[in-house]
Amino acid sequence: MVTASLSSPDPSAVAPRLSLQCEAIATDTSTIRSLDWERSRFDIEFGLRNGTTYNSFLVRGERTALIDTSHAKFRDTWIPLLQEQIDPKAIDVLIVSHTEPDHSGLIGDLIDLKPDIEIVGSKVALQFLKDQVHRPFSSRAVKSGETLDLGTNADSGMHHCIEFLSAPNLHWPDTIFSFDHGTGILYTCDAFGLHYCSDDVFDRDPGAIAPDFRFYYDCLMGPNARSVLQALKRMDGLPEINTIAVGHGPLLRHHLSHWVSDYREWSGQRSKGESYAAVCYLSQYGFSDRISQAIAHGIGKADAQVQLVDLRATDPQELTALIGDAKAVVAPTWPAQPDSELQASIGTLLAALHPKQLVGVYDAFGGNDEPIDAVADQLRSQGQKQAFAPLRIRQLPQGNDYQRCEESGTDLGQLLTKAKTIAAMKSLDGELDKALGRISGGLYVVTASQGEGESSRRSAMVASWVSQASFKPPGLTVAVAKDRAIEALMQVGDRFVLNVLRQDNHQQLLRHFLKRFPPGADRFSGVNVLDNAADGGPVLSEALAYLGCRVEQRMEGPDHWIIYAVVEQGNVSDSDASTAVHHRKVGNHY
Ligand SMILES: Cc1cc2nc3c(=O)[nH]c(=O)nc-3n(C[C@H](O)[C@H](O)[C@H](O)COP(=O)(O)O)c2cc1C
Repeated sequence: MVTASLSSPDPSAVAPRLSLQCEAIATDTSTIRSLDWERSRFDIEFGLRNGTTYNSFLVRGERTALIDTSHAKFRDTWIPLLQEQIDPKAIDVLIVSHTEPDHSGLIGDLIDLKPDIEIVGSKVALQFLKDQVHRPFSSRAVKSGETLDLGTNADSGMHHCIEFLSAPNLHWPDTIFSFDHGTGILYTCDAFGLHYCSDDVFDRDPGAIAPDFRFYYDCLMGPNARSVLQALKRMDGLPEINTIAVGHGPLLRHHLSHWVSDYREWSGQRSKGESYAAVCYLSQYGFSDRISQAIAHGIGKADAQVQLVDLRATDPQELTALIGDAKAVVAPTWPAQPDSELQASIGTLLAALHPKQLVGVYDAFGGNDEPIDAVADQLRSQGQKQAFAPLRIRQLPQGNDYQRCEESGTDLGQLLTKAKTIAAMKSLDGELDKALGRISGGLYVVTASQGEGESSRRSAMVASWVSQASFKPPGLTVAVAKDRAIEALMQVGDRFVLNVLRQDNHQQLLRHFLKRFPPGADRFSGVNVLDNAADGGPVLSEALAYLGCRVEQRMEGPDHWIIYAVVEQGNVSDSDASTAVHHRKVGNHY
């Protein structure tokens, strides 16, 4: 294994820690992994906790293929390391799984080193690439079932024939998977990936990576669950896959069937039922893709179905069907001067809308957008109801903008699932419901905050489903409904504060925190808090006690996450006062 460290691991160093790793993973096949240890939260998707990696692969048959490159930030070391592995002139083909800059950032450099390299990708990927690299290149567009024969490696005797699978929307419109019939490796780039940075090339420790695997699915793949199922069906037609070589995180080999069945199960659950929200975006335009993901993630939290729709890459017939069948449609602001193809798509979108739909709009922040109110007017021209207030973004989107978008999505999701939620509450048997209601608890306010300044996010919720769960180390569980805003800040490794309310003084705090807050609102406005008393969140000045906690595990229940946290610190303000107690009458309310 070659490991090249690019900067000092000194935690006080300002430069982010980047390193490279190069290792053989199968016959004639090696990976170059770019390890980005500290890529911060909200930098790409919303929720990175463990850095990330960008993985590329070299497959050597009679001819040699490179699968994906790396992020431009690795330019100074990735290219020399590649050159140590192979003379770039000897790379015949570059397979581009999709054109997101974290995998395609060094393609231009590669073309400079090997001008006649053949670039293989989906038709859409090759179109996007032209705008990215600004250099001529030779290319071949491929779709499902087509193959690239690399021939037989003279030393190993293995024949490497790559079969392609179209996997649109996973999570980009231009994605292809590549399957090497020689080694049984499927290269999927974003799909099945996770943002997790470690030296482990493979999934040796499934427990360590499972929370990030799930989080990544929820954010990026869940909103395209139908497309995931289609891709899985295509994968079923392949011979046995022994490794999924992902573009982010450890490669999946030791627990492969477990990860694949997770995708099958989660996507199956998310594709049940007909009514869904179509969340449109414009790939490679402003912040439209990231913002649409935040909204879609929020909708999914409320157990509502969602479908991401790329207005640039969806053909008119499919677009008409996806928009026409949706219960709610969310769209970005589009360029004030769209090209003719986009103009046609916008026309198709507007023509497919109907008055019974809820519609929402967000700023794509693309540079020269049509004003958001003008777009909202066009979307509501037939009297459609507003799904949420227009999501205006006035500066480069920050953590709190994504929070507002996610919470708007959750509000919309709750509207879409209202009938289902009411029916579920009514279905409890009367006596059982009363008996369950005899379970009582204390009254608490959970608070959490992350990030600094403009990019900070903070939230709070009233909780009574709280219980001590371990002595050594001291630990507790909180049951957090899946659609709670604060849930986003209670992932494994996150810190939060449990504020214990006083029996003789809790009504005002309860009233305050039980208000319905608009998306992104500061829930602490008007409340006395101590910001630096504990790690993880504000301490309420009027609380009886506080406990500073770190999330250790999350167990998934049907409608709540059972969050187990280790208590790291705590203090009591009045040893004589007692904790507020919450007695209930029925089990189907808190
Ligand atoms: C007495 C009481 C106890 C509650 N306990 C919990 C709880 O343990 N877990 C939870 O997820 N929600 C609980 N809730 C509901 C949330 O506190 C409340 O709906 C929340 O503030 C709304 O936040 P949201 O906008 O993030 O959904 C409780 C509500 C009440 C009235």
